Amino acid sequence: MKRMYITGPMTHLAMLFSICLFSISVASGAEPDSMRQWQLAKAESGTGYTTVLKTVPVPAPAVNEVLVRMRAVSLNRKDIYAQDRSMETGQATPGLSISDGAGDVIAIGANVTRFKVGDRVVGAFDSVWIDGASTGYRSRQGLLSEYVVMTEDTVLPIPAYLNYEEAATLPCAAVTAWNTLFKAAKLQKDEYVLLQGTGGVSIFGLQLAAAAGARPIITSSSDAKLEQAMALGAFGTVNYRTYPDWDINVRKLTNDVGVMHVLEVGGQDTFPKAVASLAKGGHIGSIGGLGEGGFVREAPEDLLKPYNATWSYIYVGSRTDFENLNAFMTEHQIHPVIDRVFPYAETPAAYDYMKSGSFFGKIVIAIDK
Ligand SMILES: NC(=O)c1ccc[n+]([C@@H]2O[C@H](COP(=O)([O-])OP(=O)(O)OC[C@H]3O[C@@H](n4cnc5c(N)ncnc54)[C@H](OP(=O)(O)O)[C@@H]3O)[C@@H](O)[C@H]2O)c1
Repeated sequence: MKRMYITGPMTHLAMLFSICLFSISVASGAEPDSMRQWQLAKAESGTGYTTVLKTVPVPAPAVNEVLVRMRAVSLNRKDIYAQDRSMETGQATPGLSISDGAGDVIAIGANVTRFKVGDRVVGAFDSVWIDGASTGYRSRQGLLSEYVVMTEDTVLPIPAYLNYEEAATLPCAAVTAWNTLFKAAKLQKDEYVLLQGTGGVSIFGLQLAAAAGARPIITSSSDAKLEQAMALGAFGTVNYRTYPDWDINVRKLTNDVGVMHVLEVGGQDTFPKAVASLAKGGHIGSIGGLGEGGFVREAPEDLLKPYNATWSYIYVGSRTDFENLNAFMTEHQIHPVIDRVFPYAETPAAYDYMKSGSFFGKIVIAIDK
């Protein structure tokens, strides 16, 4: 059965539009009433959550929403935290999963003006934040689904040179890296930038810094991954397993000047060495808590003072920040690094792969494969 998705008061214009939509729906094939959606449910073992495939109704967009047929989503570390509940996630209860994804607009609410049926779109990370300063953590949830609704204000067009899978990697990791380098700080050409590990945020940080003409130095537990990082434009690399005092190696790579910027994803465990890698007047953006000690949420002034360093706690970014990232990515024709694309049916394997830590860059699930 075909569905028609015009909501709200039916003005003449809206009625006319609904007829157009209806005919588009006919032309592009009817959308089903139900869809397959992966949800997080209590694991049988009793600890943590597991992904379960459910059949649920296809939602209808409200007046200010677009209905999107999802093409691809990408995993972030927080999706693993949400699954094992071993770390703070900011989310009350699991259920729907995955904040980052891209697809096609297939229907619009009556008041939608920014998009039309057929547009290729990607959702911003935050479900409310458009511009200015953040007023709280409201990560979008529930894109691991064949269809989703999103408010038009928090959706962006996909840059023309990127495909759906590439676009799906941007909302959290890339926006966070961009904000740390260009908004919380003002990255300049030739400056040294420190990136920790070869996960999503760090590889975007490497690509963005290299494109800006800076000198990215990256750490990893794997020499093979460090070779990949060199091919992406790293200025220098350090294996943090081989060299537990990796800050010494980082400083050597800068001729003991130190790095001007750190994208700090390790958290409490790596923070002291990140500070020890700094140049005078450098900036640390605290982003993550990959180590067992978890996140750094307050400025450790005693550590920062000897370096006259500045510190920011980073929370992803607004839609405007995402637009600025897209402009930069487009100018430099940067393609996200996707390690592997999993078909929708193999979603649990994608989570397992992320947990394995053996990936480089981003992991994607193709909803339409
Ligand atoms: N504040 C925010 O707005 C924000 C936004 C995005 C992400 N985050 C947080 O930032 C962190 C990174 O996120 P992500 O999605 O980029 O993670 P990810 O893709 O899962 O990165 C995992 C990689 O990080 C490296 N790694 C793991 N433990 C490490 C450690 N103790 N020290 C240094 N490197 C380590 C490893 O790289 P190798 O295999 O190369 O060793 C690992 O493969 C997470 O804690 C995430 O929750 C925060």
